[in-house]
Amino acid sequence: MHLLQSLMLGIPMALAGSPIIVQRAPTAPFGLFAYGDGIGGAPVFTDGENAFIGRATRSNDSEAAQIQFISGTDNSLLASPNTTTGNAPTWSNLTFMVPDTTSSSHQVGFTNSTTSTDRSGSGFVFYGDFLLHKNTDGDLKALWYAVPSDEDRIWTLNWNSTDDDTEGKVVVTLKATPPSRPTDKNN
Ligand SMILES: *[C@@H]1O[C@H](CO)[C@@H](O)[C@H](O)[C@H]1NC(C)=O
Ligand SMILES: *[C@@H]1O[C@H](CO)[C@@H](O)[C@H](O)[C@H]1NC(C)=O
Ligand SMILES: *[C@@H]1O[C@H](CO)[C@@H](O)[C@H](O)[C@H]1NC(C)=O
Ligand SMILES: *[C@@H]1O[C@H](CO)[C@@H](O)[C@H](O)[C@H]1NC(C)=O
Ligand SMILES: *[C@@H]1O[C@H](CO)[C@@H](O)[C@H](O)[C@H]1NC(C)=O
Repeated sequence: MHLLQSLMLGIPMALAGSPIIVQRAPTAPFGLFAYGDGIGGAPVFTDGENAFIGRATRSNDSEAAQIQFISGTDNSLLASPNTTTGNAPTWSNLTFMVPDTTSSSHQVGFTNSTTSTDRSGSGFVFYGDFLLHKNTDGDLKALWYAVPSDEDRIWTLNWNSTDDDTEGKVVVTLKATPPSRPTDKNN
């Protein structure tokens, strides 16, 4: 199956040694947007700790803000608040993290620490517009999914739905491009 098709369907794929062209994240600040069934390009935001999908301004949390990413060393992604959209939180320059293959956690999040167990903060690359993660074995994966939170139209952003039976989870792709309709009220 073609990689792009697999990404759209959210099918996990190991691509060790395959000759597909991946590229570093842009060095200019960019946002990330989630696309999936019922999620039409909702921005990624954080409260300074966990990753969420939706409008940060809908969250109760005064630390919640939409993110602008820049690429760092080893294809890390560094997150700062995009304050044009709302709150000016206390966090900045956080490293984006996904659970590693040995972790039973599904939570995607951020850290201000240089050391982190069971999580990977490097290897984020793009295939076209799609954000993938390359682990230490060289496998490229896109295992993003969203789980409804207890706040309206806000989801938590998760990784690797294996063994997660949560009701209502939605496979998503993450892209660096915003939706073509800028103010979709469903997001
Ligand atoms: C910051 O947010 C504004 C308003 O939503 C948006 O137009 C702009 O593209 C964002 N900047 C980045 C780098 O994401
Ligand atoms: C941001 O975080 C990265 C990774 O922890 C670090 O290397 C860099 O020096 C930090 N930049 C600033 C301006 O604090
Ligand atoms: C996904 O989760 C399963 C079960 O916890 C684990 O065995 C597997 O290694 C994980 N895969 C990745 C790519 O993290
Ligand atoms: C790092 O994050 C922790 C927990 O979120 C916080 O208590 C600490 O003050 C932060 N440290 C820095 C240097 O921002
Ligand atoms: C948001 O704030 C309202 C009013 O303070 C509270 O009732 C509600 O539980 C909060 N929601 C969450 C998800 O914390």
